[in-house]
Amino acid sequence: MEFLKMLKSVVLVFTLAGICVNGSRVIELTEKFLEIKEDAPWLVKFYAPWCGHCRRLEPVFYQVAQALVGTEIKVGKLDCTRFTSVAQEFSIKGFPTIMFMKGKEVFTYSGDRSKDDILAFAKRLSGPAVKVLATCAHLDAVIRGHDLFFLYVGERTGTLWNAFQGAAFAFQERHSFYAVDAMCLNKLHEPTVVLPAVFVHKDKVYHAMPPVSHDVSTKALNETVYQWINHERFPSFLKVNHGNFYQLLKLKKWLVIAVLEEDTLGDLTNEMLQLQDIIHRLALQEEESFRQWFQFGWMSNPEIANSVAMQNLDIPSILVINATTLQYLLPNDDIKIDESFSESRCADFLKSVLNFSAPVYGGDTYLINAYRALFNAKTSLFQMWEGNPVLMSVLFGLPLGFLSLICYSVCCGDIFEAAEEETLPEPHEKED
Ligand SMILES: *[C@@H]1O[C@H](CO)[C@@H](O)[C@H](O)[C@H]1NC(C)=O
Ligand SMILES: *[C@@H]1O[C@H](CO)[C@@H](O)[C@H](O)[C@H]1NC(C)=O
Ligand SMILES: *[C@@H]1O[C@H](CO)[C@@H](O)[C@H](O)[C@H]1NC(C)=O
Repeated sequence: MEFLKMLKSVVLVFTLAGICVNGSRVIELTEKFLEIKEDAPWLVKFYAPWCGHCRRLEPVFYQVAQALVGTEIKVGKLDCTRFTSVAQEFSIKGFPTIMFMKGKEVFTYSGDRSKDDILAFAKRLSGPAVKVLATCAHLDAVIRGHDLFFLYVGERTGTLWNAFQGAAFAFQERHSFYAVDAMCLNKLHEPTVVLPAVFVHKDKVYHAMPPVSHDVSTKALNETVYQWINHERFPSFLKVNHGNFYQLLKLKKWLVIAVLEEDTLGDLTNEMLQLQDIIHRLALQEEESFRQWFQFGWMSNPEIANSVAMQNLDIPSILVINATTLQYLLPNDDIKIDESFSESRCADFLKSVLNFSAPVYGGDTYLINAYRALFNAKTSLFQMWEGNPVLMSVLFGLPLGFLSLICYSVCCGDIFEAAEEETLPEPHEKED
């Protein structure tokens, strides 16, 4: 009896928990959403009941909704298998898809599915593209909250302000933009800069955008500001992964990547750490200002690098990728990546990339892409085999087994029949 009582209370607790989850701030949306979507800013999760990634996102999304209680942002979820017309309206192609909507603008989330990142995405997009800070002291909080952000300092009128707003509007999905009054300039430790000016805060320091001459046209100014922001919108040295690789290509710089491989515990060997360190220092050094031509990074897994180079690269190695053509360069054979490899040798290699004296391979042409597809298919088959030989044997073994059975019955069946026919007359002969 005690046990039954306990069971009952456990069931009760679970039911209550169920009610709580249902009563959360995540609103279950229907077709009616199309009519009300422009009434407020919305953060919406499009899901399908059968999708595993959606179920994993469920508790995270619930926490995001909890954190947004009290803001103007409404949080909802929509079952795309039931309300296909809404899914079509937003051209949903995969599950889960997270979108932020304000008025007619729609933004699709593409970052990690973590609470903090989704929350930052919603908060960034809920206000205007450029958020004006009321006092200089607010800058400290912005620095604490962001690895990287853009800042406009000065009077908020004129062509530079318009250009900054235009670029902020174009990049607001991924990056943060702020503005402060001219008197905050001394907080930036950049006293020589003429205002108004645009800054990026990354790698824990401010970098000012080079001044643009006054006689340049508004269109050219817009373009310059946009391009500078595009070039500066990643930390000087970062971890390259599937999520950001295609964004990095859009910078139209050379990508310099330390290709490393973490072991199962997520550790790197000393040799790998040494190379990572060399590339990191090159990324931050000011004299050569490599920063304007190169984007530096590292990979904890050679998969993407192998796919670009269409070969299994030695680990560790340095791969330089031309973002425009997807051509790649490797240090030539007499540069060994060992204890003797140094920052200056690496710098020489980068200079030879810039003066086009280093040989380039690969590319993005039809033929090379076909070859790359073949290489990728081969690699993934190999990885599947390594990951689960039994499954692979069944996957490929079973159809092969059936195929051989079919072949057997088609070909050998005929032979048997023929043999039977041939042997049939025999009894008659014997009867004779
Ligand atoms: C420059 O950008 C601003 C903001 O996007 C825009 O309003 C303006 O029309 C642009 N000017 C030109 C000449 O493209
Ligand atoms: C990539 O290659 C093209 C064609 O050779 C060249 O014009 C360009 O400067 C290279 N670099 C980058 C970063 O695109
Ligand atoms: C290119 O740069 C490398 C490294 O600095 C240098 O050794 C080489 O002579 C340069 N080549 C040309 C053609 O300028």
